[in-house]
Order: sequence, then structure tokens, then C-alpha cells
Amino acid sequence: MDVMTLIDGKKVSAEIKEQVAAETGRLQQQTGKVPGLAVVLVGEDPASAVYVKNKNKTCANMGFQSFSHTLAADTEEKELLKLIAELNANPEVNGILVQLPLPAHINAPKVLEAVDPKKDVDGFHPVNVGILTSGGNGPAPCTPAGIIAMLDFYKIGIEGKQAVILGRSNIVGKPIASLLLKRHATVTICHSRTRDLPAVARSADILVAAIGKPRFVTPDMVKEGAVVIDVGINRVDGKLVGDVDFEKEVEKAAFITPVPGGVGPMTIAMLMKNTLNAFKKANNL
Ligand code: GUN
Repeated sequence: MDVMTLIDGKKVSAEIKEQVAAETGRLQQQTGKVPGLAVVLVGEDPASAVYVKNKNKTCANMGFQSFSHTLAADTEEKELLKLIAELNANPEVNGILVQLPLPAHINAPKVLEAVDPKKDVDGFHPVNVGILTSGGNGPAPCTPAGIIAMLDFYKIGIEGKQAVILGRSNIVGKPIASLLLKRHATVTICHSRTRDLPAVARSADILVAAIGKPRFVTPDMVKEGAVVIDVGINRVDGKLVGDVDFEKEVEKAAFITPVPGGVGPMTIAMLMKNTLNAFKKANNL
């Protein structure tokens, strides 16, 4: 490939956050209110703690009100459900995010179902999952929504393209499949039981790697001129690496997202956008 374009997630994220902050300012003038986002963290997972800190900081930069709840790792499920009920009832809270993963003693699907679907800015509630898979307009999970926003920013066409997704998680693989399908791509999802995964991956015009295995995608899995989206965040010898063997891949791809600085920064921008949208709906704006 002669010309390879690096997709700059930081730049796209900054633009989206700028738009969200500007609209928030306008709506505050108009209504005297600002969007409120509640983030709930259970336990002391260091990576999750960093995400939560970043979310609070970004809320402040957007002019949002932020509500941060950090609960001990041994918090009982019913305590967590009680907190969610309070947040559901609080009119100043427009978005509720429960940081995943939750400790093993907590039934995560039950907790996600307890969040009011109107405040579900992660798009994880079964009602919103249903709206997404039936092609409607609900809140889409932030990382997949961020991938679509990046493709659009770089004017990468989706309609009619062969999209191959590596990974079938509820957070990324399944919702990105729905979003790409909604935009008229032909979508294939690969996973650990897929036969001859490299051959399927090689058919992709748009390849999304979301399997959580460092440098899993090697050049033999990538078609010349493909768009490669790397959702992986893996720590190897103290260094962050994606699911794509980036150094080798740049030879073949037309577009590629780096790690860090690709998909990662998009997630929080889309979270802010989902929260602003929930605020607008709640206030008939
Ligand atoms: N853990 C990893 N990614 C996410 C996400 O997008 N939302 C939540 N709530 N937890 C996560």
C-alpha cells in the first residue's frame, strides 16, 4: 500500500467533545440546566479507577454535572441496586454508567437491567440492545459508536463493504455488527470457534479487531488496502498494545487506528454525546 492513513482518535474525539461542550453551553443559557452523569465503580480495579477519574474530568470540561460513586469490592448486590434506584429517581442525573467488570458475586445483567433505559448511556440495557438490533435510534454502546464516528470523520464508506469483526462481546463485537449492518455493510462476526479465521479476515474491507489478544492480527489476515480498526487494549511488558500487530500491518492497510490514540479516546467522547442526548430527551429539547 503506498499511502496509509493513520486514524487519529484523539483528534476526532476532541472535535466531538468540542461540539458537545458548545451545545451544552447553549442549552444551559436556554434552560439553566446542564446534563448530569453518574459513574458507579465497585471495587478497586486500577484500570477501572483510571477510566472513572477520566470520565469525571471530562464531565467537568464539558460543563456537565458529575456524580461519582465508588463502592467497596464486597458491596452487596442489593446495596448497588438501591443506589441505582436512587440515581434513576434523581432528575439531575441524565446518564448512569456502571463500570464493568463488576465483582463476581454481583449479577451484572441484573444490575444493567436495573438502570432506567432512558438513562442508560452505555446502551447495555436489554431494551436499548433491542432497539439497536431492530435498527432504531437508541443510545448505542460508546466504543462501537466511536468506531462509526471515526469512519465517518475520515469519509470511509460503509455501505456495501465487507466488514469482518473479530470478537462477539456484548460491549463491542455484537453492537458494532448492528451499527455496521444499519449502515448497509455485509457483516461477519468471527470468534474462537470460527474455522479458518485468517481466510475470513482476509475478505474484509473493514476489519474490526476486538478479541483482547495482543498482536493477534498478523499481515496474512489483512487484505491489501483494508481499513483496520483495533479495539484491543493489552498491556505487554508495561506497554499498551492492540489486537493488531501494528508495526507489520501498516504495510498493507489503507487506514489503521493506533493503540493508544485510536479507538480508546473515542469511547469517552461518545459517552458525553449519549449523556447530552439523554439530557435533551429528558427536557424535551
Ligand atoms: N468497561 C470496559 N468498557 C466499558 C464501557 O464501555 N462501559 C462500561 N460501563 N464499562 C466498561
